[in-house]
Amino acid sequence: MADVAFASGRNIRVLGLSGSMRRNSYNTALLRAAQELAPCNMTVELYDLSAIPMYNEDLRDRGYPPTVSQLRQDIHTSDAILIASPEYNRSVPALLKNAIDWASRRPDQPFKGKPIAIMGVSNGALGAAFANYHLRQIFVYLDAQLINGPEVMIGNATQKFDETGRLIDEPTRTFVASHLERLMALAVNTRNVMITHRAATATAT
Ligand code: FNR
Repeated sequence: MADVAFASGRNIRVLGLSGSMRRNSYNTALLRAAQELAPCNMTVELYDLSAIPMYNEDLRDRGYPPTVSQLRQDIHTSDAILIASPEYNRSVPALLKNAIDWASRRPDQPFKGKPIAIMGVSNGALGAAFANYHLRQIFVYLDAQLINGPEVMIGNATQKFDETGRLIDEPTRTFVASHLERLMALAVNTRNVMITHRAATATAT
């Protein structure tokens, strides 16, 4: 895996989006665990969505707000997206849905073809499964490339993380690591396809 990534030139850069702004968020803690567990040659950057305004078509008509332009650009230039989101009332929290809605507008919808992995944690038993599946539905519509499995739905959060927010449950850590391996493979493959496509286009012109 590492050799393939090196062959394509640089590290795999992953944007980590948390669906929670809570200081002691389990989902943000899960992204921090992903930073530790990521394969070599993959970096996971935690992205702050808190400054994204609520979507308003009138605002967009005046041009994307700077925080939204930055988000859209960062999605474009990243190799992959890693989401960790709680479930609010059996669906996607407004923070994350709002950011996706802003980013998804034309031109150059940045999620198209983007490798995306979706994880979630909750205190309950179901591990934010409904939010996970609503996110999948959204990203199918936006024509992203999703990691199908293993599905990372972590329930009973208080037993899986310690009081400092470290993911301490070993089977869960192994599971998350294998999810990231899948994301790495898809991101490397996607980048190599793009490089080949660009080279073919350049030769043809
Ligand atoms: C929740 N929570 C919750 N949990 C769940 O398993 N299913 C649900 O539908 C909901 N709904 C819900 C709605 C709202 C408005 C809140 C604030 C919370 C509980 C939620 O999973 C829990 O608070 C998580 O710890 C939130 O994630 P972070 O902030 O720890 O990442």
